[in-house]
Order: sequence, then structure tokens, then C-alpha cells
Amino acid sequence: DTDRSRGLGDVYKRQVQAGAGMGLGHARTYLKGYLMAIEKTFIMIKPDAVRDRKIGEIVARIERSGLVIERMEMTTLERATVEEHYAHLADKPFFGGLCDFMTSGPVVKMVVSGLSAVAKMRTLMGATNPLDAAPGTIRGDFAVDVNANVIHGSDCLENAEIEIKRFFG
Ligand code: RTP
Ligand code: MG
Repeated sequence: DTDRSRGLGDVYKRQVQAGAGMGLGHARTYLKGYLMAIEKTFIMIKPDAVRDRKIGEIVARIERSGLVIERMEMTTLERATVEEHYAHLADKPFFGGLCDFMTSGPVVKMVVSGLSAVAKMRTLMGATNPLDAAPGTIRGDFAVDVNANVIHGSDCLENAEIEIKRFFG
């Protein structure tokens, strides 16, 4: 990872030098591709989707997007792990039900990597509430209920690192 970051840094510097003679707008567009970094994100296929035999279709969508599945394991979560994972929602009325749901059967946990993997996965997943999730997104196509919305994906790079440690150690 350190090597990759260093590599991207060198590429970025070369592009800045190459872009020095361009207009600012053009240079910004030219550089954009190099500002996207290779990231790792934490993804989980939730118990509803495992129960409904959607693992294959969801995994296929992730791979078709160009992202890479680096680790993958089916497991049933401990309640304490789920409570820690959703600690930011502990005061919500749906927290107990959310923890019941997430421990109701096996999940498939994954580490997914690629360019801007965190944001890319959030785009593939669609909005938290499947009623707002666009057709063509995973939640838009496979879920109708915000309480059983098929997939989890880290919401930022910092949380991705924390969640990968939490679920894969
Ligand atoms: P997730 O963490 O599961 O990927 O979902 P998210 O980032 O899109 O949404 P977040 O705010 O982190 O909420 C976590 C999960 O809590 C449930 N939820 N229910 N009944 C409700 O209004 C409600 N709001 C959130 C969802 O299952 C959501 O995925
Ligand atoms: Mg979240």
C-alpha cells in the first residue's frame, strides 16, 4: 500500500509538471483521474439477502464494476460486534431491531478494493432507504424495507479501516 501511494504520488507530480502549460480548467480535468486513490472498503451482505439467495448476484455486480474482492467469509455475527458497529445509532428507536436483524442469520463479510472503492461501493449500493434507492442499484433492485436493506458498505475511508479491523481482526 505504501508503495502504491508513493507510486501515485510520483504520477501526480509528473502530471502537475505536464499540466503546468495548460489552462487551469484543462489541467484540473487532466489530473482528476490521478486524484482517485486505490482504497479498501468493508462490505457485508446482510442476513436478508443471504436468506433470499442473493449472494451470487451481489458478488457479480461488485466484480462487474471493476472492484476486486480481496477477502470474503460467511459468518454469523456476535451481538456485541453489531452493537459496536452501529454504536452511532444506539439512541435510535430501531437500534434493538437492527441488532436483532443483523444477528438473525449468516452474513457475508468482504474486503473490496479498487479506485475510490469506498464511494464506488456506496454508489453501487444505492440509498440507505430502498424507497429512495435508484433502480439498478443493489438496494434499489433487491430491497424494499429500510430495516432489511441487503448490504452494508463503509461510509468513509476512516470507517473502512476501522471496520476491516473490527470484522477481520
Ligand atoms: P449501513 O451502515 O448498514 O451500510 O447503512 P447506511 O450507512 O446507508 O445507513 P446508516 O445511517 O449507517 O444506518 C445503518 C442501518 O440502520 C438502519 N436504519 N434504519 N428505520 C430507520 O429509519 C433506519 N435508519 C437506518 C438501516 O438498516 C441502515 O442500513
Ligand atoms: Mg452506515
